[in-house]
Amino acid sequence: MSTQLRYTLPVDQTEWTVNGETSTTLVWEYEDGRDALLNLYDKGKKQQWDASDRIDWSLDLDPENPMLMPDQAVPIFGSPVWEKLTDKEKVQVRRHGQAWQISQFLHGEQGALVCTAKIVQQVPDMDAKFYAATQVIDEARHVEAYSRLLHEKFELAYPINPHLKALLDNIISDSRWDFTYLGMQILIEGLALAAFQRIRDVSQNRLAASVNAYVMQDEARHVAFGRLALRDYYPHLTEHERAEREEFVVEACYLMRDRLLAEEVWGAVGLPVKECLEYSRDSDAMRHFRGRLFSRIVPTVKDIGLWGKRVRDAYEKMGVLDLAALDSQAMLDQDAKVADQFDIETRMAQAR
Ligand SMILES: [Fe+2]
Ligand SMILES: [Fe+2]
Repeated sequence: MSTQLRYTLPVDQTEWTVNGETSTTLVWEYEDGRDALLNLYDKGKKQQWDASDRIDWSLDLDPENPMLMPDQAVPIFGSPVWEKLTDKEKVQVRRHGQAWQISQFLHGEQGALVCTAKIVQQVPDMDAKFYAATQVIDEARHVEAYSRLLHEKFELAYPINPHLKALLDNIISDSRWDFTYLGMQILIEGLALAAFQRIRDVSQNRLAASVNAYVMQDEARHVAFGRLALRDYYPHLTEHERAEREEFVVEACYLMRDRLLAEEVWGAVGLPVKECLEYSRDSDAMRHFRGRLFSRIVPTVKDIGLWGKRVRDAYEKMGVLDLAALDSQAMLDQDAKVADQFDIETRMAQAR
C-alpha cells in the first residue's frame, strides 16, 4: 500500500534553485534604532534555546497514530472512502498524513531560514538586520527540530507541496525587501502558527506537542517583527505600490485557503485521489484550519495598513472580515506563555 522509502520521491528530483534578483544594502547609521525593534532583538537574544536539550528526544511516536491526533483531523474522516478502510489501512493514512504535514513544516522552515537571511542582506535598517539575524538561528533550530522529528521518528518524508513551493518561489524571487517580510513573516508564518497550534493543543503525544509549542514561541516573535517593520513602511508607499501588495495578499490567501490539501498522500497510500481531494476540500478538518489561519492573518494585515477595498472585499467574500477585530498581539503573547507552561510541566515530570 505504501512506499517504505523515507522520501516518497528521490531528493535530486525535487530540489530547486530560485534565480531571483536580490539587492544588498549596507547602512552606516548604527545608533538610530527604533526602540520596539531593538527590544525585540533583545528578546530574541535572551530567548535562544537548544533543540537537543529542551526537547526530550527519548520519547517516541505512537506506532498506530504517530502524534496521537484525533481522527477528526484526518481530512477524509467520515467520507465513504474512510468508512471502508480497514484498521490497518487507517494506520497508514494517519502515518502518511502526519508525515506529509511535518514535511511541509520542515520545508517551510527552510524557506523561512533562507528568507530571513535575505532580509539581513536587503533591509535598509540596522535594527531590522540585528533582529533578522536572531531569526536566522531560530529558523535553523526549527529546521533541526522538524527534521529530527521526521527522520528519526516518522522515518518517512514527503517532498514540498507544489502550491507551497509556488508561494515560496514568488517570495524568494521578488527583489523588493518588503515582499519577503509580507510573504514570509506575515503570510507563511501566520499559516505556520495556525497549523502548529492544532498539534500543540490537541496532540496527546508529548514529543510532537512540545516541538510545536517551542517553535511557536519563536514564531510569535517573528510575526511581531514583520508587523512592526511593515507598519512603519507601508504608510510611505504610493497608492499604486500599496495596491500591488494588496493583490499579492489576496492571491496568497486564496492559495493558502484552497490549495494546501494533502493531495500527494492519497495516491501514495493507494486511495482514489480525486474523491479524497473533493471530500477534504469541505471537511471539518479544513474548515477548522481555515478559521485558525485567518484569525492569525486578517488582524495583522489590517494592522500593517493593507486594508484597501480589494483586501476587504476578498475577506468579506471568504467570510472572515470580522476576524480583523481580534487582538493579534494577545494571541502571540499567549503562544509565548504556552511554551513556558510546557517547560514547567517537563520540570515537574522530571522531579516526580
Ligand atoms: Fe520557523
Ligand atoms: Fe519563523
